[in-house]
Amino acid sequence: MPLDPNALAALIRARRTNMQVDREREVPHELVQQLCELAQWAPNHKRTWPWRFCLVTTGRDQLGEVIARAMEAHGDDPGKIAKARTKYLRTPATLIVGSAAGDSPLRTAENRDATAAGIQNLLLGATAHGLATYWGSCPKGANDVVAELAGFEPDTTVVALIYLGWPIDEMAVPERPPVGLYRL
Ligand SMILES: Cc1cc2nc3c(=O)[nH]c(=O)nc-3n(C[C@H](O)[C@H](O)[C@H](O)COP(=O)(O)O)c2cc1C
Repeated sequence: MPLDPNALAALIRARRTNMQVDREREVPHELVQQLCELAQWAPNHKRTWPWRFCLVTTGRDQLGEVIARAMEAHGDDPGKIAKARTKYLRTPATLIVGSAAGDSPLRTAENRDATAAGIQNLLLGATAHGLATYWGSCPKGANDVVAELAGFEPDTTVVALIYLGWPIDEMAVPERPPVGLYRL
């Protein structure tokens, strides 16, 4: 399918990590479903389809609470724990993305690679729809409680907590260093 390479490059460069969003404006479930379908088109060794998704909207409080409790159990800093309780309320939706374990450490790593590639598809799709996205890591010690809350299988790695919303502000562009490309 012909696609203007400049348009694709512009989309890739336009994707920004941004959580300056309208907290009151809902992100339609159907749109998130479409974005998750884009993730499925990532390359995936052994076609294991490892990505797992859970869209959190009304449960954002609960997400913050289980993470805060896990951080407490982990002896985390009280300031960070207090922030964790409310941080998922900053955007109207958070998409939890997990990656299923494989049948060997290598396959588990490859599954995670495929899931990360799928996340990039999803973020670019979101950018094309005008959505702001922010890929956050799962806080230390919280993987298993988040995976359980999301309904993922045991041993699933939570690869991203993606904040989603409609932007109200633009973010500065972190420029990239010159690319290194060696030749043999
Ligand atoms: C695996 C991964 C985890 C990330 N986790 C966080 C995070 O926990 N907190 C955060 O502020 N940014 C996080 N980011 C986003 C990066 O900080 C961001 O991509 C980087 O600053 C470049 O900005 P840009 O995405 O707008 O180009 C994460 C990105 C990736 C790929």
